[in-house]
Amino acid sequence: QVAAASGHTVVLVDQSDEILKKSTKGIEDSLKRVVKKKFADKPEAGAEFIKKTLKNLTTSTDAASVVHSTDLVIEAIVENLEVKNKLFKTLDKFAPEHTIFASNTSSLQITEMANATTRQDRFGGLHFFNPVPMMKLVEVIKTPMTSQKTFESLVDFSKAVGKSPVSCKDTPGFIVNRLLVPYMMEAVRLFERGDASKEDIDVAMKLGAGYPMGPFELLDYVGLDTSKYIIDGWHSLEPNNPLFAPSPLLNKLVEEKKLGKKTGEGFYKYK
Ligand code: 3HC
Repeated sequence: QVAAASGHTVVLVDQSDEILKKSTKGIEDSLKRVVKKKFADKPEAGAEFIKKTLKNLTTSTDAASVVHSTDLVIEAIVENLEVKNKLFKTLDKFAPEHTIFASNTSSLQITEMANATTRQDRFGGLHFFNPVPMMKLVEVIKTPMTSQKTFESLVDFSKAVGKSPVSCKDTPGFIVNRLLVPYMMEAVRLFERGDASKEDIDVAMKLGAGYPMGPFELLDYVGLDTSKYIIDGWHSLEPNNPLFAPSPLLNKLVEEKKLGKKTGEGFYKYK
């Protein structure tokens, strides 16, 4: 959405037409929210912005067949290294020489993905934040093999889509998630111990620390499955680090398919 809105030609790839239809509808709804804010007194300019953005966007269910004409691939699939590596390996065969590959992973190592391809120097991380149309930050990740030219291209691209890039080494969680995920897990542990209610913890962090959402609201917003993938991955890397300890309550909710806002229930219930 943000790439198309800033004039880039985008092919959105997913597994089925049904998912793509849902994604396109999500983008249309989000564009309407952006327009309501940005073009409040200029409805015609707003409608034109939506039309132009959607014109830049096509969809496909076959990544290998569309990658031949792309300069940049941004992967944002399931947080599973094996699945990601399989995809990158395939795309590596079909993409032109100059094409840069980037992953939007929340917690996995970019270096390991780069090593699944033959373009380690043209591989980096581009980590966006939910909700991407609103959040200004992008973390640009340089592995020891990422070339300076690739890094600069990723920084330039981030600026071209209207974001403020920061850079970080290829370390677990980069900057934001390395701080945010242990904080959210501490909130779950505080609640699990019965020290405070989740409602009070959320109010406390909003009114006492100025956060726009409390930790439980944010966990539900990000998705409990995503949060579990992150913490489980880090726990397996550093089993003795108490910050990365799994939470029985989070595990139970994920097992019950209560994944947060997207499934209608997580820590809270949604209509
Ligand atoms: N698309 C377009 N516009 C959107 C939007 C979307 N998906 N979501 C919100 N907006 C716009 C709305 O149109 C609204 O504009 P308005 O004020 O003109 O109505 C504006 O944002 C504010 O939205 P709301 O009134 O609905 O609610 P808030 O004022 O609470 O703002 C929020 C919503 C921007 C999501 C804010 O609560 C927030 O900043 N929350 C924290 C988000 C955060 O921490 N994200 C990082 C998560 S971690 C992550 O993503 C990393 C990953 O790897 C796990």
